[in-house]
Amino acid sequence: MNRPSTRNYVPRETIDEIRNRSDIVEVISECGIALRPAGRDFKALCPFHTEKTPSFTVSVQKQIFYCFGCQTGGNVITFVKEHEGKSFIETIEWLAGRLNIALPNQDARESADRKRVTNLEDLNRFAVEYYHRQLLTEGASAPARQYLKHRGVQPKTLRSFQLGYAKSGRRELVKAATDKGFTTQQLIDVGLIKDEDRGPQDRFWNRILFPIQNERGAPVGFGGRALSEEHQPKYLNSPATVLYDKSKILYNLDKARQTIYKQQRVLLVEGYMDVLMLYQSGVENVVASSGTSLSEDHARLLKRFAPEVVIVYDGDASGFQAAQRGLLRLLTEDLRVRIALLPTGEDPDSFTRQHGVDAFTELIDKSINLIEFQIQSAIQSQDIHRIDVKTQIVKEVTETLLNLKNRVERSEYIKYAARDLHVDERVLWGELRDAGLKETSVSRPMPQNKAVQQKLSARAQIEHQLVEALIQNPALIPYVKSQFDCQHFTEPRFAKAAQLLWEASTNDDSEGIDIQALISECPDENLSAFISSALLRKAPAPNLQARVDGCLKKLRNFHLQDLEQRVRSHALAEGADEMETLEQLVKLSNERRALRGRGVQDTHDENLNEEGVDNGF
Ligand code: CTP
Ligand code: MN
Repeated sequence: MNRPSTRNYVPRETIDEIRNRSDIVEVISECGIALRPAGRDFKALCPFHTEKTPSFTVSVQKQIFYCFGCQTGGNVITFVKEHEGKSFIETIEWLAGRLNIALPNQDARESADRKRVTNLEDLNRFAVEYYHRQLLTEGASAPARQYLKHRGVQPKTLRSFQLGYAKSGRRELVKAATDKGFTTQQLIDVGLIKDEDRGPQDRFWNRILFPIQNERGAPVGFGGRALSEEHQPKYLNSPATVLYDKSKILYNLDKARQTIYKQQRVLLVEGYMDVLMLYQSGVENVVASSGTSLSEDHARLLKRFAPEVVIVYDGDASGFQAAQRGLLRLLTEDLRVRIALLPTGEDPDSFTRQHGVDAFTELIDKSINLIEFQIQSAIQSQDIHRIDVKTQIVKEVTETLLNLKNRVERSEYIKYAARDLHVDERVLWGELRDAGLKETSVSRPMPQNKAVQQKLSARAQIEHQLVEALIQNPALIPYVKSQFDCQHFTEPRFAKAAQLLWEASTNDDSEGIDIQALISECPDENLSAFISSALLRKAPAPNLQARVDGCLKKLRNFHLQDLEQRVRSHALAEGADEMETLEQLVKLSNERRALRGRGVQDTHDENLNEEGVDNGF
């Protein structure tokens, strides 16, 4: 298997040793989860989603965890990574430290670091600490400290957000960082200095600095606020760098992610100060888009943590427009969106300080859905009773509804819009169909989240059975691999799982592969959760070989049918030579008959219902 380069400083054997020696029950308990014995396993309330009855299961014997509610799962490494929000390598270091295992070249790495610093993240980390120290200790920082105090930032907030101060000099950081061994080029690369005619100059001077972290907590850039009106611009930010891509970073996501996950909801605000003040008041599930417009990547990032976003933008015209733009992005990512409206002229920071956090929470509870928002805003600005105005609003609402992926929500919103706009529901459905919507008003409820089981086709069920059997008995992989090409799987997730298994196994491997290692190296969270769930299921019947052979035959049969179909449609489309086509078809159908002779039914006669079993995701 390909291994990402970031992992190469810890050899594979060490990772295996760390994993083998870290007892999953001990580690999960140490992370604050109250595990209760349940038969041979342990159970707890899932830390990854909100639930009332425990569906989070830990298997001592198999050393894996799996939540039957939200379908998060994996091994001890996956758990620490997900729960503590660490990167793979940070997880390994953490587990190693806990076991007192010295990572082979960690010491060497550190001493090399001291001599020649090469890592841009290290440089940013240095800058964060440097500026933070300046704010806390320097006499010249007194006005900055005064300013923050005046704005109600408490000392503990100042520390946990590692706020900093850049003094008025133009070469303060250049000097401190190069003294430390960093190069001018590195400083330019992370956007901390600018190379000007007069030589390298600090980007930030006389500004309060908000360090910006990525979702793993690694510092990637800074936002710098001026202390006075005269000093423009009000905010100066790091430029785009290799570490900092504005469209992929949300301020405070590193600190907020656990609360967001637990509450299944994220608050999206505009500014750094909004985040600080809310977080300080105990509202922790808050992130900021920091003045950039919300991107597709932002929406996708948020979706990893929660299904619902409440937009709390400033109560002014530009905040209003930003909210409108942002919500379409969120909708297309299938996130539920609500909008909290602030009084004109207020932002979350000023509102909370003036009215208290309870008033703010109430505002969030009263947040409205996007159609309400769209209609409200139209009603406020125009005369809804005029035909042309109403037509225009119906058009706008239709566009929003088209972007909705969730059909249940769509039909709920249609009811709402019909009532508020005083138009018939059927008119709105008609508009939607004209705009290209295929379904009718009698819509089937769609799954609300990934926990809802999806139905599988007969073929996918067999693929599922086969992949699951292989996960439970990796020793069979080389055999199956020699019999069947994983390209022929049709259901994408089983194809992916099969490909992973195929890649991980070598032909001469009599033992098969290390499934535990596969879980920690798996590039896809859904896939590693699937593998864990397969491991947790009851062991299959003892006649495993026969079962696997049965699956293989059925899948081959399906594949031959595919080929026949292809020959037929090729012949139809191209007017191919009849004789040749016939020969090919006869050959394929003979092959299928031969399979049937060995016990495989034609799948049309197969006694499998089309609305199959749950898929285990
Ligand atoms: N912003 C920016 N550049 C500017 C102005 C704003 O990058 N010139 C971003 C900042 O991330 C800022 C956010 O947009 O936090 C919201 O801007 P604004 O509402 O003007 O500032 P506040 O966050 O309210 O800051 P303050 O309360 O200090 O005025
Ligand atoms: Mn503000």
